[in-house]
Amino acid sequence: DKELYQEYLCAAVEIAKKAGEEIRATFQSKKTVEMKSSPADLVTETDQKVEQLIISFLRSKFPDHCFIGEETTAAGVHCELTDNPTWIIDPVDGTTNFVHSFQFVAVSIGLSVSKENVVGVVYNPILDELFTAIKGQGAYCNGKPISCSKQQDISQCLALVEIGSSRVSAHLQTKLQNISSILQQGVHGVRSLGSAALNICQVARGGGDVYVEHGIHCWDMAAGDIILREAGGVTIDPKGGPLDLMSRCLIAASSPQLALSVSACLTHIDYQRD
Ligand code: IPD
Repeated sequence: DKELYQEYLCAAVEIAKKAGEEIRATFQSKKTVEMKSSPADLVTETDQKVEQLIISFLRSKFPDHCFIGEETTAAGVHCELTDNPTWIIDPVDGTTNFVHSFQFVAVSIGLSVSKENVVGVVYNPILDELFTAIKGQGAYCNGKPISCSKQQDISQCLALVEIGSSRVSAHLQTKLQNISSILQQGVHGVRSLGSAALNICQVARGGGDVYVEHGIHCWDMAAGDIILREAGGVTIDPKGGPLDLMSRCLIAASSPQLALSVSACLTHIDYQRD
């Protein structure tokens, strides 16, 4: 598997960089924006074009593999994770940031085999930061090994949170209440980068200690999941069990203890599964 996974990673890096060129080229210009599930759930021509670019490249290299992509799913293609090797792709994670030329955007490409994420690439083309991981082979940023903080104490941590794109009043209330509960545990601060993949990579590199979100999708977390676990961190379901990639929520943390401390102070929100 080792050589095969290397080959998969090389292909994903090659196409993430090409996708990154496309994102950089339009980053400062005015974008044509359309709404998806809510007024805050956006898509641009770049998201669609970049997803096509990534999928056609990987499909030509690995014709037997399956694909799940954010924009393909939005266009009505059924999103199904099987045991087959499946590329899980977010062409522009942080679309709202992209629309506003706010520099935290990323191409996120994960590969799941037997429903386990085994290869991950998260590339921020604006800051030129490339996070990569292969199962059992460590996590890297621009080729240098990274590791998470190992922080266990919630009162010593920097927490990453997101509001997400739902504007359903009950969701907003619970999310704000959860942020308040986390603050009341004495955390040093809360931050929102506006990209789930980059939030997870911050935890992986030790720049933040824990990240929680309800309402995200499998393409926001597949690549980040393996990058963080290879950096020594953990991903769990916010209710405390193992991560379920299709369940629309996660806690990504620098230690199991911290993940469970955050889990204990949350009110959970059930979203329709991917
Ligand atoms: C979104 C971002 C954002 C998170 C949302 C995601 P997108 O992904 O990751 O940080 O809060 O829940 O949907 O739509 O920009 O790919």
